[in-house]
Amino acid sequence: MSLNFRTGTLLALLLAFCSCQTPQSTLHPMGPASGRIATLEWIVLILFCLIAFSVLVLLFWAVMRRRGTLDSHAPWNEGGGQSWILIGGFAIPFVVLTFVFVYGLEAMSGYPMHDGGVKPAIKIIGHQFWWEIDYLGATADKQFVTANEIHIPVGRPIDLELISQDVIHSFWVPLLHGKVDLVPGQDNYIRIEANEPGTYRGQCAEYCGEQHARMMLLVVAQPEQDYQAWFDQQVQPAEEPTGQEAMHGRDVFMGAACAFCHTIRGTGAHGAVAPDLTHFASRQGLAANSYPNDESDLEAWVTHAQSMKPGSEMPDLAEFNGANLRALVAYLKQLK
Ligand code: CUA
Repeated sequence: MSLNFRTGTLLALLLAFCSCQTPQSTLHPMGPASGRIATLEWIVLILFCLIAFSVLVLLFWAVMRRRGTLDSHAPWNEGGGQSWILIGGFAIPFVVLTFVFVYGLEAMSGYPMHDGGVKPAIKIIGHQFWWEIDYLGATADKQFVTANEIHIPVGRPIDLELISQDVIHSFWVPLLHGKVDLVPGQDNYIRIEANEPGTYRGQCAEYCGEQHARMMLLVVAQPEQDYQAWFDQQVQPAEEPTGQEAMHGRDVFMGAACAFCHTIRGTGAHGAVAPDLTHFASRQGLAANSYPNDESDLEAWVTHAQSMKPGSEMPDLAEFNGANLRALVAYLKQLK
């Protein structure tokens, strides 16, 4: 029993320490907004640990002062109980909770928010179960649509508009900012910023259905030049495939149901219900970052999506196999 308890405690501690190292830790803020949240988090944690410790000490002290026996425990009153209730039950909680409330408001007021008057740079649309990402650019040649992976320049605040196509989702990249919901029929805004280059993992943080857990997104923060290069690439239409196999793959794609759901700019595929695949091969993940974007996972995804992400809109396309499947994958992998 004691071994079990000790093992359990050790495991719990290990888990707690592991969570500090995850790519979604709130304890390693990499942006101004998450920095404020982390400071608030530490203050509240330390304060409440001190209070919990004091209560335990008092409890222990009270147990040691216990009088009488278990058989005779008549109420014992030396007076003075009222001041304990007034101080410990009212005054201290009032001071502590007021401090936390005011400090929380202060942290929120400094939390960088979009003011609504400026056009946001990016519109994020929540879908069951993926993220549509529209770069809004001032002119048509600066606009494009992608999915599940946002690129931003390092050190520059970027305003996002958040809406939902179906149910409520929540946009949360813990290393960069707090949660903001995507609500159908309502525009929410958030301003994100990364202090350092890196790939920051996010997760839908509002239960939205069967595949809520596989609704991940990546925020890739890049130095200004790299970001510009990425941007210039993304605004381009898809390149023509090269090589027999990829060309055949394009014909397979255009001749099948794919083109009714997906868009590939510069081709006849204009579907608007599934992720834009114009530069699909430049993205790191598949199925809202549930799987790495490599050839074997892609083959499996095309043919067995309902096993890999049951309940998603992507059907099992069993009609693809052999040479056709390889050609299709070869084509998609050329969409850099
Ligand atoms: Cu989308 Cu949970």
